[in-house]
Amino acid sequence: MNLPSLQEARKRSKEKTEVVYLNQTEEKIVDYKKYFLRTYGCQMNVHDSEQIKFILESLGYMETEKLEDADIVVLNTCAIRENAHDKVFGYLGRCKHLKESKKDLIVCLGGCMAQEEVVVNEIRNKYPYVDIVFGTHNIHELGSLIKNTLHKQDIEVYSIEGKVYENILYKRDSNITAWVNIMYGCDKFCTYCIVPYTRGKQRSRRSKEIINEVKSLVNKGYSEVTLLGQNVNAYGKDLEEELSFAGLLEEVAKTGIKRIRFVTSHPWDFTDDMIDIIAKYDNIMPYIHLPLQSGSSRILKLMGRRYTKEEYLKLFDKMKVTIPNVAISTDIIVGFPGETDKDFQDTLDVVNYCKYDNAYTFIFSPRIGTPAAKMEDNTSLKVKEERLAKLNELVNKYSLEHNKELLNKEVLVLIEGISAKDSTKLYGYTDTMKLVNVEGSKDLIGKIVKVLITDAKSFSLDGKVIQNK
Ligand code: SAH
Ligand code: SF4
Ligand code: F3S
Repeated sequence: MNLPSLQEARKRSKEKTEVVYLNQTEEKIVDYKKYFLRTYGCQMNVHDSEQIKFILESLGYMETEKLEDADIVVLNTCAIRENAHDKVFGYLGRCKHLKESKKDLIVCLGGCMAQEEVVVNEIRNKYPYVDIVFGTHNIHELGSLIKNTLHKQDIEVYSIEGKVYENILYKRDSNITAWVNIMYGCDKFCTYCIVPYTRGKQRSRRSKEIINEVKSLVNKGYSEVTLLGQNVNAYGKDLEEELSFAGLLEEVAKTGIKRIRFVTSHPWDFTDDMIDIIAKYDNIMPYIHLPLQSGSSRILKLMGRRYTKEEYLKLFDKMKVTIPNVAISTDIIVGFPGETDKDFQDTLDVVNYCKYDNAYTFIFSPRIGTPAAKMEDNTSLKVKEERLAKLNELVNKYSLEHNKELLNKEVLVLIEGISAKDSTKLYGYTDTMKLVNVEGSKDLIGKIVKVLITDAKSFSLDGKVIQNK
């Protein structure tokens, strides 16, 4: 048994990150058994789940969408806000029920919640039927944990700064677009955020490994890669003699992959070089997710974001001027401790200035162990909810305006599949990450096609295919 420790998770040493080359071979241990996997949180977790799927399927499990049919349940969890927790505990309740009639059911909890001391204490005390708890640092061990399960609770979570694993095998969800990790962890320690504790220190992968992975995806016929990291602009800063993010982007662009995007950007590490490279290469998508968090310089300081409102706007303007037709999206937190009406108005002012293409908005959620959780907070939930509603109204207005600008225009869309809402339609994304629904034959899936936009809503566009590229 290895338990997580908040104190250990906080540590940052100067030691060089170890690179470990995995030799992931799982032998088949079951026949005709099924797994149920739920993934919460960010793209990093979505990609980790592709690793989890590879392990489960190598062991012989097949995926089911029905919890009741499962022989093994894996919850890949997120710790970013309290409501992410609630959903997971809800599922655990259902598992308890299921286990009463299915004694051999294996229940596993992984991901960022598993890295939290408070959560693991609760699992130990109140959820004894959870068989395996594994963290973000040892996903590759899941196969052996399952093989060795004694149906007695086994907790294997490491609060370490972390290593870089290479040769990870994935069962990718798509054969058109792929996630590529370029770095792990985060050293920014924004005062509200749990990620530096759940994911460890910033560790960049060697550029050689990243480029090789992208090249192999190109050879397999993938059209798009998303470079993943909590703060991609800081790529390489933890390594000696490594490329910067601008250099890495350029090398990835030269592999000839049709589309490249990247998440998430931190304004503090965004350099002019990066903006120039994005503008220079046609296959780097003109789409930047640039979290603002707050428009008030006073609150930004309390958040530990390391930029002011003015610095953010200067960067924003530079992007808009340099990168033709760039789309910019953002994340905003309302109700940070001590946020006044005036601070909130500053946020609205920035939104009115930037007119974001899209924005993800949240009410501040105190995370145990982070500095902001201890800050005095006199704003009522009611006021916070009112602020959120007002912000959302504004944000949606601008999303719709941006979409309407595309009415009767021709755009290039990478068709990704059949629409979940309407099986007679296909869906895809523009290079500015706008969702487009079109009519057309399945042969178009995986292709970049020219589409005439015929209708614009707040969150999607409708269009007509006019030409295959
Ligand atoms: N690395 C990314 C963010 C990852 S978390 C970045 O630096 O922008 C995704 C978003 O969740 C954050 O941008 C923030 O807006 C939100 N978030 C993080 N912690 C939060 C908290 N304690 N309460 C509410 N929202 C939070
Ligand atoms: Fe969290 Fe800040 Fe790191 Fe983003 S940069 S993951 S918000 S600590
Ligand atoms: Fe959530 Fe962990 Fe991602 S806390 S947002 S799953 S890094």
